[in-house]
Amino acid sequence: MSQPGAGAPAVTVPAVTQPIGELARPLRGKRALVAGGDGDIGSAVSAGLAADGADVAVAGIDGESAARLADRLSTADNRTAGYRVDITDRASVDDLVASLATAWGGIDVLVNCAGLLKVNAAEDFAAEDWRAVVDLNLTGAFLLTQAVGRNMIKNAEGGRIVLLSSVRGSIGLAIGGWAAYGASKAGVHLLGKQLATEWGKHQISVNGLASGFVRAGVSAKALENKGYAAMVAARTPLGRVAEIQEVANAAVYLAGPRSSFVTGQVLFVDGGLTASQ
Ligand SMILES: NC(=O)c1ccc[n+]([C@@H]2O[C@H](COP(=O)([O-])OP(=O)(O)OC[C@H]3O[C@@H](n4cnc5c(N)ncnc54)[C@H](O)[C@@H]3O)[C@@H](O)[C@H]2O)c1
Repeated sequence: MSQPGAGAPAVTVPAVTQPIGELARPLRGKRALVAGGDGDIGSAVSAGLAADGADVAVAGIDGESAARLADRLSTADNRTAGYRVDITDRASVDDLVASLATAWGGIDVLVNCAGLLKVNAAEDFAAEDWRAVVDLNLTGAFLLTQAVGRNMIKNAEGGRIVLLSSVRGSIGLAIGGWAAYGASKAGVHLLGKQLATEWGKHQISVNGLASGFVRAGVSAKALENKGYAAMVAARTPLGRVAEIQEVANAAVYLAGPRSSFVTGQVLFVDGGLTASQ
């Protein structure tokens, strides 16, 4: 159903009267870029967007891995492509966005799943480790979002941006040594709010998605320790860590038409952890 606002362009919002096929593939015709799209969470996000009908460009630091996943996600109904990108490098990010603009004409959806975790006690944290974490998780998120945002503004068709974050961007944890990671993710939360505020006039929504622990990716090693895993589960009201698919589902929701009036938020997918602090 179209709902034009005061001076704002019409928005397509799913309605129960829509044909069932359209509801099943609400992202058909949308061009999605998933950075870190071949990582553990990113792969599930890429697959979820493809399942909802989107064209999916998978981008990561390992271009061959990204290309392999893109091939697997390709169907008769949607286009996929794999790219190498280093989101800490402005030239690399600009190349990626230019390639997509040439290949597909633009980008409607960006999900940033690239991330790095290094933990160490704050008093021992090496400056180079701090820089590596902040450079990828925060500066990289900004460079990527800026380049994609420029493309979205130029195309004047609006857009959806989802920035993967973490509960650590909101709450501390005595065990582990999360200073750099937590600070970088707290930065991502405000980056999303600020960009949502600046780019609302372009019909670009920007939201953070703060996950709790998933038994994969950046947390896989920590959760191999049974005592640590039990401590995490005990602190979480739902009594367990998240399944990858639960995080991916939330990302697909924030990327799609069912969240059309949601912007500037951080959605916590954390089993109630932050609510209980
Ligand atoms: N796994 C968890 O428990 C958990 C919890 C909360 C939040 N997160 C966040 O979710 C996101 C995905 O994490 P994951 O667990 O899937 O990690 P992962 O290690 O499986 O994936 C990381 C991805 O980042 C990409 N990457 C690394 N350096 C890059 C660079 N310079 N440029 C572009 N891409 C680069 C890799 O290609 C890879 O696809 C991260 O932002 C992470 O902080 C993860």
